[in-house]
Amino acid sequence: MTTAQLTRSEARHPDGLATLFMVELWERFSYYGMRALLVLFMVAPVASGGLGFGTAEAALLYGNYTMAVYLLSIPGGYTADHLLGARRSVMMGGLVIACGHFAMAVPNDASFYVGLVLIALGTGLFKPNISAMVGGLYPPGDARRDAGFSIFYMGINIGGLAAPFVTGFLAQSAIFKSWLVAWGFDPVHSWHWGFAAAGVGMTLSIGLFYLRLAQFGSVGGPPSQPSLSVRSAITVVGGSGGLLAALLASDQPGLEWLRYVVVAIPVIAIALFARREDLEQRRMAAVFVFFIAAMIFWAAFEQAGLSIALFADQLTNNHVLGFHVPSAWYQSLNPMFVILLAPLFAVVWSRLGQRQPSTPVKFVLGLFFLSLSFLLMVPAAQATLSGRVSPLWLVGLFLLQTIGELFLSPVGLSAMTKLAPARMVGIILGIWFLAAAFGNKLAGLLGAGFASGDAGTLSSFFLSLFGLTAATALGLVALTPWLKRLMGDVR
Ligand code: PHE
Repeated sequence: MTTAQLTRSEARHPDGLATLFMVELWERFSYYGMRALLVLFMVAPVASGGLGFGTAEAALLYGNYTMAVYLLSIPGGYTADHLLGARRSVMMGGLVIACGHFAMAVPNDASFYVGLVLIALGTGLFKPNISAMVGGLYPPGDARRDAGFSIFYMGINIGGLAAPFVTGFLAQSAIFKSWLVAWGFDPVHSWHWGFAAAGVGMTLSIGLFYLRLAQFGSVGGPPSQPSLSVRSAITVVGGSGGLLAALLASDQPGLEWLRYVVVAIPVIAIALFARREDLEQRRMAAVFVFFIAAMIFWAAFEQAGLSIALFADQLTNNHVLGFHVPSAWYQSLNPMFVILLAPLFAVVWSRLGQRQPSTPVKFVLGLFFLSLSFLLMVPAAQATLSGRVSPLWLVGLFLLQTIGELFLSPVGLSAMTKLAPARMVGIILGIWFLAAAFGNKLAGLLGAGFASGDAGTLSSFFLSLFGLTAATALGLVALTPWLKRLMGDVR
């Protein structure tokens, strides 16, 4: 085979990748399409069809919901490995998610909560297992695997880019509201048309997956012998259920101390593993150092759907060239920058080869760019004193945050797979999702401090997010030499 032929056949990806790309694209369309409206819907007055929540109440619910989504991927991954197989888990998870979105399409308080619970349960079953199927398309050691995941990440972000345009238009634009009036519907319920659109996206996702199931051969099939042991099932389901219950209970007065489990778990794990002689075990200490850094990263980053969404809605001048921009549209800036910048990052990493910075350094850079994005918001908060501010502040914020995301998120995922002993990759990925879950819970707690009415409080709000992320970056700089020793030959 000539080199040219070899490159061409190496570059070709398994057919299943295109299917998983489209299926995940539509699932993320539904997830981010709904998330773009969630907080705005909760704080909208009842007279405008919203729930009339205060900011703090909406922030806690946002944190609890997004925490549950990622935390449930631990029992979700476990169920697929030991009982259902990835394919059936993706299918069932997808159906549950679609039911959740359609429940939210009904303008009724009870169906709103039922919808959130269904989406969280379904995503727990769907998200980790579709990612596992991407990995399953490639034999071990296949050089195309990383590229396969990068392509898959593009699908995620195309879904995330398109969704807010559709759901924001339906929920927020005057044009669609006037159509509703013309068709004889109540325009106050426009939110629920947005939620229904998310459900349509999810339905497309499952339909595509079902039509192409035959493509996957044995990939994601059920385990050869169902290996569910009652003891391990109780540990996994009970453990994650208990953790979820504890963190939900921690919102109750008197039980706030339960929140500290998010720090206690990784700190205890680091203390236990770092003292071991065995390299595999010492690497687990490194995993939990990255866990803390990633948790803080997500706590600030996930403000996008919360305090930043409120800033876009309440404090940004959304009249551009005589057109009123639905505030949910700003949610598309992050996925747009990912699509623009991810190829650049890929080229730079492959050009630098062995000379590229180590994982700890990339994490520091990720946190650093994230901290800059909040520093940028301090003068923006000051500027709100004289009315609504330019949308360019948010463009700058999302640009800096996306650079941070690309330094940390894909790099972290790949570091986890390298630090994990082969037989434990699944569990370690679950731990990576747990860091995102804890981060989202913290995002809710931090976002409760957002106050749009007062420029002073708002500046301190952004300044404290800057301080938290910058301090974490500095802490990681200090720990880097030790962290490198823990990691052994993994960079
Ligand atoms: N945009 C990413 C996604 O939706 C965000 C994410 C990263 C979520 C890591 C969970 C864990 O997939």
